[in-house]
Amino acid sequence: MSIVNAKEILVEATKGKYAVGAFNITNLIQMEAVVEAAIDKRAPLIIQTSVKPSKFLGRDVLVSIYRTLAQSAPIPICLHLDHCTDVDYCKVCADAGYTNIMIDASKQSYEENIRLTREVADYSHSAGDISVEGELGTVSGVEDQVKVAEDEAALANPEQVAEFIERSGVDIFAPAIGTAHGVYKTKNPKIDFERLGKIAKIVNGNGVKTPLVVHGGTGLPADYITKLIEMGGSKFNVSTELKHALIDSTFGYISEHREEYDPGKVDIAVKDAIRKAVGNWIDILGSEGKA
Ligand code: 13P
Repeated sequence: MSIVNAKEILVEATKGKYAVGAFNITNLIQMEAVVEAAIDKRAPLIIQTSVKPSKFLGRDVLVSIYRTLAQSAPIPICLHLDHCTDVDYCKVCADAGYTNIMIDASKQSYEENIRLTREVADYSHSAGDISVEGELGTVSGVEDQVKVAEDEAALANPEQVAEFIERSGVDIFAPAIGTAHGVYKTKNPKIDFERLGKIAKIVNGNGVKTPLVVHGGTGLPADYITKLIEMGGSKFNVSTELKHALIDSTFGYISEHREEYDPGKVDIAVKDAIRKAVGNWIDILGSEGKA
């Protein structure tokens, strides 16, 4: 059975000093391509949808296709709801069959973040074998409906981390460490590696309890990713890169074959581009052969 929650594969990744790619998809061709790439590499996988595609494509449709693909795959696969700010929609997706839920209450006050995250954690844990991700501090940039301006972004305070995890009941934890959603405006983004290392020591120093998530994967230089894994990151979220791969490959194929009307060929071009991007991420994350 290859349907898993995120925590179980991420505990293994943290112990093994590699990371699992968590890839945001916006359509079903992307979902298939991501799964095919992970199977090729025998890598554990997290498929993510933010709220917009979950509502547009239909959560039940997404979950059925996820289950069909995962049940026949020789690798563990999790379906994660990304950056959901609405407690009720988190619960709906837990009931629908998502296996990891991210409640993003990071823009709320510290106490309100804990309260809302706890509500989702308690609900999800009683609804099934579902793990829950929470965030402390805010990641700048735009991810679906969540927008955080650079000057509003706040890094996670290591002194609050142990209490946040304990009181919120989260299974996996995303501390803001300076990574950003979208394309980085500089080649050398300012990432607080030491902050992640400090947090990892506090949380997982005496045995892995709560795996750590790095948001804003697109555009991170490979050596940064390697260092973030060394510092304790075990889930890397990648969204913008796959959106670009989808649009660019569609545009490229149609531009070169303007007289052709064969949608299947456009899908193949998209799948190839997504598979290539995901395969490259798996190489950098070191998760090849870990499933
Ligand atoms: P990017 O769009 O920068 O890859 O970030 C993805 C992400 O963190 C989704 O939660």
